[in-house]
Amino acid sequence: MILKACLFDLDGVLVDTARFHYQAWRNLANGFGFEFTESDNERLKGISRIDSLEILLEIGNIQLSESDKLRYAEEKNQLYLQYIRKMTGEDVLPGVRVFLSGLKQSGILLGLGSVSKNAAEILNRTDITPFFDAIVDGNMITRAKPNPEVFLKGARLLKTDPACCLVFEDAVAGIRAAHFAGMKCVGVGSPGILNEAELIIPGFLDLSWEKVVSNLIG
Ligand code: G6P
Ligand code: MG
Repeated sequence: MILKACLFDLDGVLVDTARFHYQAWRNLANGFGFEFTESDNERLKGISRIDSLEILLEIGNIQLSESDKLRYAEEKNQLYLQYIRKMTGEDVLPGVRVFLSGLKQSGILLGLGSVSKNAAEILNRTDITPFFDAIVDGNMITRAKPNPEVFLKGARLLKTDPACCLVFEDAVAGIRAAHFAGMKCVGVGSPGILNEAELIIPGFLDLSWEKVVSNLIG
C-alpha cells in the first residue's frame, strides 16, 4: 500500500467543534422540553444538519412540518455560528499543526472532507486553510457520510487513487464513508466507539507520519 494523500474530517478531528454542535442541539432539544445527552449526540457526528434534526426530533418524539424543520435547522445553525465566530488559531486541537506540517514535508497531499457547510469559515478563523491542497465541504456534496461522496470527491480533486488515500475521522459514519470509498481510516478518539477503524489514536500530539504508517502496515 502506497499512501499518497490524507483526507481529514474537520469537526472533532482538527478542531473541537463537536462540543459546539452538541451545545446548540441540546439547546434546541431543551426548548422542545426534552434532554439531549452526549451519547445521543454521538449519533449526529458526521451526519448532515437536516438529518441531525430528524434524529433529534425522533429522540424527542416530536413531529414538525417540513417548513418548521428548515426553520429549526436554521435556528440551530445561528446558535452554532455564535460559537464558531469566537474561534481562533488556539482552537486547533493539540499537535494538529505539527502533524500537518510533517505530512507536507513528507510529500503527502492534504485534503479536507467535511459535510459541514461551515467548514470554510472554521478553517479560515483557525487559520489552517493553507495546509490543504483540496477542500470538500457540505456545500459541494449531496450525500452526507456514511456515503463516500465527500472522500471520493476529495481523492478526485487531489488526482489520487482512493486506495492511496488515508482518512482521519472521529465519527462512526465517517469511518464507514472511508471504507465505502475504498480507503483505510484512522479513528481519532475513543477505541470503544471507533473500533471499525484500521488504527485508533487519541489525538495528534507527538504523532508523526512515520508512526502512522508503521502502525498501519505493522
Ligand atoms: C459535521 C459534524 C456534524 C454536523 C455536520 C453538518 O459532519 O460532525 O455533527 O451536523 O458537519 O454541519 P453544519 O456546520 O453544516 O451544520
Ligand atoms: Mg467529525
